[in-house]
Amino acid sequence: MMDYNLAWLSYRNIPWYEDRKFFQTIVTREKHVVIKTAVAELCRAAEEMFGMQPEITDRQERKDNFGKNRICLVMDAGISVAGGYRIEEYGGQISIFSGDASGILYGAYALVRRVQRELPLTGLKLQELPDMPLRMLNHWDNMDGSIERGYAGSSFFFKEGEILLNDRTRDYIRLAASVGINGVVINNVNVSGDATRLITDEYELSLKRMAAELEAYGITLYLSLNFAAPIELGDLDTADPEAEEVQSWWKEKMARLFQRIPNLGGFLVKADSEGRPGPFTYGRTHAQGANMLADMIKPYGGLIIWRCFVYNCTQDWRDKKTDRARSAYDNFMPLDGQFAENVILQIKNGPMDFQVREPVSPLFGSLEKTNQILEVQIAQEYTGQQKHVCYLIPMFKEILDFHTYCRKTKDKVSDIVSGRTFLQTECGMAAVANTGSDRNWTGHDLAAANWFGFGRLAFSASLTAEEIAEEWCECTFGPDRETTAAVTRILMMSWPAYEKYTSVLGIGWMVNPGNHYGPNVDGYEYDRWGTYHRADHRGIGVERGRAGTGYTSTYLEPNAAMYENIASCPEELLLFFHYIPYDYKMKSGKTLIQHIYDTHFEGVEDVEKMIGIWEGIRGKIPEEIFRRVKERLNHQREHAEEWRDQVNTYFYRKSFIADEKGRKIY
Ligand code: GCU
Repeated sequence: MMDYNLAWLSYRNIPWYEDRKFFQTIVTREKHVVIKTAVAELCRAAEEMFGMQPEITDRQERKDNFGKNRICLVMDAGISVAGGYRIEEYGGQISIFSGDASGILYGAYALVRRVQRELPLTGLKLQELPDMPLRMLNHWDNMDGSIERGYAGSSFFFKEGEILLNDRTRDYIRLAASVGINGVVINNVNVSGDATRLITDEYELSLKRMAAELEAYGITLYLSLNFAAPIELGDLDTADPEAEEVQSWWKEKMARLFQRIPNLGGFLVKADSEGRPGPFTYGRTHAQGANMLADMIKPYGGLIIWRCFVYNCTQDWRDKKTDRARSAYDNFMPLDGQFAENVILQIKNGPMDFQVREPVSPLFGSLEKTNQILEVQIAQEYTGQQKHVCYLIPMFKEILDFHTYCRKTKDKVSDIVSGRTFLQTECGMAAVANTGSDRNWTGHDLAAANWFGFGRLAFSASLTAEEIAEEWCECTFGPDRETTAAVTRILMMSWPAYEKYTSVLGIGWMVNPGNHYGPNVDGYEYDRWGTYHRADHRGIGVERGRAGTGYTSTYLEPNAAMYENIASCPEELLLFFHYIPYDYKMKSGKTLIQHIYDTHFEGVEDVEKMIGIWEGIRGKIPEEIFRRVKERLNHQREHAEEWRDQVNTYFYRKSFIADEKGRKIY
């Protein structure tokens, strides 16, 4: 008995589906391992949905004599975007065309999604070309089986210092590939202990097996790397990237790794960040550090993905000049043009750290000569930890649609990380994964929409958040219109609701220090992490304009002026950029303090609405899932009330201004 479900790949039995007839035969002449996977996936879907076992053949009929009721997998050099595919039904035959094997697999999954949604295949014409070349998941899994910021059980990659490879791993790979993921980092960016030894012979065999499993699904294996490995593995007493002994050490390690582990793509590196070692220790720049490693793996086509999450984490809260928001920009902007071709900078979406609302990192649009990956977090560290429902695709859409004004056209973040702006090929999107060993993979069943959605969005950035929600919902629960409408509504309400009760106009961090869960308005206010709200009896907000830290000037015009100017600063980010008095009049005509009170009451009401909507579809989705979600929604309501009361009370006590509506504030 499997002790987990298959999320959106849990196929329902739908023998009534007319277009099942196409699944009678699958035709392909291709021998590529990924195409074999595509055939196997189509067969599995046919078996589970209609109890059919397709005949598999390589017999191509003559052009003028189309075979009926079959699916042909055809390599077609005309589709030149890697992973792109075209599906066409003509004369009773469905053809999936692609220029490469992965594209055929993505086409097969796309076809299966249509079947799951019971959409017709007859007359189908569909083409999808992936926007982002790299579509990666970053797992923060530790080798003892724990997961940093994991909210869905323990690791399915590691246990007690060993690498796991079993049915669960394979089903994970299927789920990831089915939404277009093509790169996976299996270990935590904070690399220590056993994980440092992942690059030694000790793990060679298991990594080789893991890489082969991934390869069959078109996914490349990546590892997080410890910059100080030459020291920590006991071989050298320095990790200075300019030292010859360090270079030859890495050279030898990398040669062995890449020779022994085919399908190893390269490494993700968190250096000089939150206590991790890095080039700064030796007076070297990040370009020197990254390029040294990149040089060693270049012969094997390897990539170094270097994170920009570099900031002073021992700040004095009294210091109002240092601004954590500036730090990625200040550290990396001067290095634009210095990074090797096979280095990619991985930039968190905002300048702080995955808060509920942040502006887009000013590095996007400013860095012109450097490969870039946009890093988002579907692990809901600051967005309800997979106990609260918080569908993040609408947030990612806003980020991707942000105009940086670096060019007259193709200036959006989505253009940049797709490679359209600066004609780059090593770019894309990465998400900190939200998975674990829980039965449903993601703790909250509705959090699977973030995993599914991230993949779909990185593949097809022009899909809307609603379209993705509907697609996920129908693949998961079947195409019942009422269910789809209800679940999509809950998902679409969820991020705004969460923002209302936890975060005021771009102010984040009002959380319990350490675990980052639950309200604690001053939790980080007098701490060393550079995460302040600066509230006093007159107002709240961080002055990041010219009169303050000058962060607004890190943006290109006209964004810099838009943020600098209080009147043009988007209200949802007002307190991120400016210190504002409580009696400031918002565009709605309300005062800031009244806005704070109102949104906190509304946030809780929104959760109540979501509960009502969920109750309305009892019986339409599996009881086990219904109950699990219901329990979490109930917790969410209680917790949202706690948020509302603590935040409102805090600001009432600071400002002495009463709620106009006279509601209960403590
Ligand atoms: C956050 C998170 C850490 C993580 C870090 C990172 O600060 O709380 O757990 O290590 O981000 O992205 O490296």
